[in-house]
Amino acid sequence: MGADNVRPVTEDTIRNASRILRAGGLVAFPTETVYGLGANARDREAVLSIFRTKGRPADNPLIVHVASLSAARSLSSRWPALAERLARRFWPGPLTIVVEAAEDIPAEVRGGLDTVAVRWPAHPVAEALIQAADVPVAAPSANRSGRPSPTTAEAVSIDLGDAVGVILDGGPCDIGVESTVVDVSGLRPVLLRPGGLAREAIEEVVGSLEAPAPGGPARSPGMKYRHYAPSVPVALVRGDASDVPPLIRARSDPASTGVLACTQVVAALPDYVTVDLGSTVEMAASRLFSGLRQLDASGVALIVAVWSKTDTGGLGLAVLNRLEKAASEVWG
Ligand code: TXA
Ligand code: MG
Repeated sequence: MGADNVRPVTEDTIRNASRILRAGGLVAFPTETVYGLGANARDREAVLSIFRTKGRPADNPLIVHVASLSAARSLSSRWPALAERLARRFWPGPLTIVVEAAEDIPAEVRGGLDTVAVRWPAHPVAEALIQAADVPVAAPSANRSGRPSPTTAEAVSIDLGDAVGVILDGGPCDIGVESTVVDVSGLRPVLLRPGGLAREAIEEVVGSLEAPAPGGPARSPGMKYRHYAPSVPVALVRGDASDVPPLIRARSDPASTGVLACTQVVAALPDYVTVDLGSTVEMAASRLFSGLRQLDASGVALIVAVWSKTDTGGLGLAVLNRLEKAASEVWG
């Protein structure tokens, strides 16, 4: 890639990155979900530069990353018992908890809301960086706004290049979809975004999760924007391995169409440009964003993404949510 700010992970590069954060700069770093674009959450100017660099709307708040429970509690004005239960059970891990914000959290981080989203990521590089910087780290996914989230340092470099102080290369992300976001600032816990921690696992701890109130103000402002989308149109097909291939053949040209689907569907479309999402929802999650980027870069005019009607448990819910947001049309 053109940019020369990608660094392998060593004690030195982490220490240097932590200095960049403390000095108000931007650092892209790996987490277990996707790469994040970090800045000191207490530094207003640094936080504003995240929004500029990503081209992100100012009303879409950021997740603040910590590496201890006490740091998480200090970001909130009220740390409810539900937050404590979730944090003790699932942190470090792919869960973001929304709580009432402490007054000293810059409004820019919160997108003007009175809540703040907090997460302790389960990744040795992210944890070491946050500890070395000794500040809470505000970090959205490290993509240009609207693009698929980056799961490799190379994807960050393609999107943001030299606009970032340093990109720490920790290899591909394990989970591949962003954290699950749960709001516990109200009476009942609300699932704001399905993600890398299965809804079922959370419900075992806190009981059933509510959906955001329909028609009400956007509880998670990010969810109202088009997201995860490559530059070519994406059509989403809901169906299974037997009926989908003929449907795709009837509606598209193999020479200019990319297909993102499970192994069985891909095997039935050998004349298409394909990305194999594998045979489990975990595999699909880990290949989803890199697959969208790969097909986008391959020069096809249309991407057809296939997701079965029944794969909505576990990480399947997050994969389907991302595909629905990336798609501009639904077939079948
Ligand atoms: O896995 C992840 O969550 C990654 C890694 C880097 O940690 N981060 C990430 O950040 O996905 P981002 O900015 O791409 O998505 C954050 C989501 C958005 O939908 C945003 O609207 C929501 O969290 N959010 C942040 N603060 C919020 C708040 N106070 N209330 C409601 N939703 C909030
Ligand atoms: Mg994002």
